[in-house]
Amino acid sequence: MFKLIKIFDTTLRDGEQCPGASLNPEEKLEIARQLAKLNVDVIEAGFAIASQGDFDAIKAIAQQIKGPSICSLARTKKEDIERAWDAVKFSDKPRIHTFIATSPIHMAKKLHMTPDQVYKQAVDMVKLACLLCPDVEFSPEDAGRSDPNFLYKIIGAAIDAGAKTINVPDTVGYTTPWEFGQLIENIIQNVPQIKEKNITISVHVHNDLGLAVANSLAAVRAGATQVECTINGIGERAGNASLEEVVMTIKTRKDIFNCKTNINTKEIYKTSRLVSNLTGMLVQPNKSVVGANAFAHEAGIHQHGVLQDRSTYEIMQPEDIGLTESKIVLGKHSGRHALQKKFSDMGYQLDKDALEKAYQRFLQIADKKKDISERDLEIIVAEEVYIVPEEYSISKIEVKSGTKIKPQAKVELFFKGKKIKKSAYGAGPVDAVYKAIAALTKVNASLLDYSIQAITGGTDALGEVNVRLKGKDQEKIYVGHGADTDIIVASAKAYLAAINRLLYTASK
Ligand code: KIV
Ligand code: ZN
Repeated sequence: MFKLIKIFDTTLRDGEQCPGASLNPEEKLEIARQLAKLNVDVIEAGFAIASQGDFDAIKAIAQQIKGPSICSLARTKKEDIERAWDAVKFSDKPRIHTFIATSPIHMAKKLHMTPDQVYKQAVDMVKLACLLCPDVEFSPEDAGRSDPNFLYKIIGAAIDAGAKTINVPDTVGYTTPWEFGQLIENIIQNVPQIKEKNITISVHVHNDLGLAVANSLAAVRAGATQVECTINGIGERAGNASLEEVVMTIKTRKDIFNCKTNINTKEIYKTSRLVSNLTGMLVQPNKSVVGANAFAHEAGIHQHGVLQDRSTYEIMQPEDIGLTESKIVLGKHSGRHALQKKFSDMGYQLDKDALEKAYQRFLQIADKKKDISERDLEIIVAEEVYIVPEEYSISKIEVKSGTKIKPQAKVELFFKGKKIKKSAYGAGPVDAVYKAIAALTKVNASLLDYSIQAITGGTDALGEVNVRLKGKDQEKIYVGHGADTDIIVASAKAYLAAINRLLYTASK
């Protein structure tokens, strides 16, 4: 009999806190929908008091997403807890997750509070949260650097106040697996209420030393029954424990963990792609489980082994995470039905309008490129289906560049039903295009970074460009990506996508 480990996904809260990953409410909803298909137990949808956008997104997710518990983060403050409740109360399974720091350094330097004051505030606010919400989780922030005796005391009191889940965070990713596992074991032994009331012990580990997954798994071995994690491991600084790594380790090494999760692992790859596409946070090729090379066998000796028997070099099957190249080969003669079938094999259910948009884009690419890969199709979905309304769109782009010529771009955009145009010179063709677009849109933003990569092999591959922009008078960062067989066009699309996102967010 395997013990169930609950998966608490915080991609939309801690994951979204990482620099450059800001998502708009529609995108958050789309990710939440996919997290529900992945079958996570809890979705931490945001931090309701942080902004109106966060509140709206949590509320929409609570109203529309069925299956997982929907949770909002809240400090142990009355206004935070009430705001969190106002957002999650629409869910069938609402949860408030409230936290206060318990480490000496956080209490003294950040909160300017004594341990007694922290203790009292935690108890009072857990009680308030329990009056509003049937399911309350409490976190002693920076538990990894807290005095264990103080932790036992505050955790016991939070349980007496009504918390059903106690989450133990290693907020700064400081501990090592054996220390963290020992901490969890000690907490379970020294807080009798945990066993008496069958409390869920959860862990939330950051990856500053690259130990987030190892520490989370050490905690599972020590008795934790919930793991907080994010898709692709995104999150504050070096990120959080990666959901796919935690889940696939528990599944692959059932023999030592004796545990299972509710995750539908066949949705992992798609979820990873969706989160990467919408946040603009690229996945490194050698990333465990979901990286482009995770199942690629390059060395002849490996290929030979895999051809004889896959288990020679594969401890997981690509199909386990939903990575399948289905038999349908798409090219320019394929029709809408074949495309729809292929999308559905890949797990995307597109409605009529979305399919039509995707189909038109597919035809454009198929005209320039012989074989359309699944990665190309993912880009089509990301570009044509999950987009913010376009204030500006491309009508025409012409560039002149080469040796002994000053690079020049002529850009024509659609704006409010009219065509507007501008030409500009630049250090190179992309710079010239960006200067013309900046002049046309009059958006005051600076380009933080620009990256380009070939999505699939061959010189006819789609080039994918990712840009990050910072609004001049705002803290926020806006990502945009664009793909095209012409890298200048891909660059223009990415830049314009980020500008449209900035304008859309500003209008909300
Ligand atoms: O890292 C952390 O401590 C957190 C808490 C709010 C759980 O994100
Ligand atoms: Zn965190």
